[in-house]
Amino acid sequence: MTGYPRLLREVAKLYRAAGVPMLRVAAEILARFDTERPKLGSRSRKPVCRFAGAAIDAARKGPLKDIADAFAIVEPVSDWVQNPNYGGDKAGKGFLDNYGYVEFVGPNRAYESHELLVGFLMLGPDTLYPDHGHAAEEIYHVASGRAEWWRQGQEWRVEQPGTAIHHKPHQRHAMRAAGEPLLALYCWRGEIGTAARLSREPAKR
Ligand SMILES: [Fe+2]
Repeated sequence: MTGYPRLLREVAKLYRAAGVPMLRVAAEILARFDTERPKLGSRSRKPVCRFAGAAIDAARKGPLKDIADAFAIVEPVSDWVQNPNYGGDKAGKGFLDNYGYVEFVGPNRAYESHELLVGFLMLGPDTLYPDHGHAAEEIYHVASGRAEWWRQGQEWRVEQPGTAIHHKPHQRHAMRAAGEPLLALYCWRGEIGTAARLSREPAKR
């Protein structure tokens, strides 16, 4: 599967160039993998996959173009999953039809790691990912989609493709896709074994 080595190389390139300590460490971890031997999963799909073509096409025209080109190859064989903490309507009515992620670095992923998660989050148009938090430190890079982002202690703001967004451990955050799907690359470092949980209070909006 030629797309995976390319995807890993392109993400490592982005992370090396970012000039951020967490991503420098991430790039070093990515460089250790035998990139030619990704473990292929079960190709699980979720309803949000109906937006994958449009979201990836938009990303291929943006600043994360090289990463999106590689993701376009592996997306059809990727496992799309959802956080089990968001079952039912806990995260809002219709949320599970408009939310999913693909992880290609992590436990039982294409590249096995117990110290790092790397993947793509996708939200459907006009979808709110409500206030949530997790113990791991996180950095997102917007690949495509005009969306608003919120984090504890700050106001909501629109972030453009190419922007890096940092969440400290346990810092609550939320995002809302506007009229188009949101595709964002993410990296988790630290306590990666503890899944995100919704905060009790709704995001201030
Ligand atoms: Fe997060």
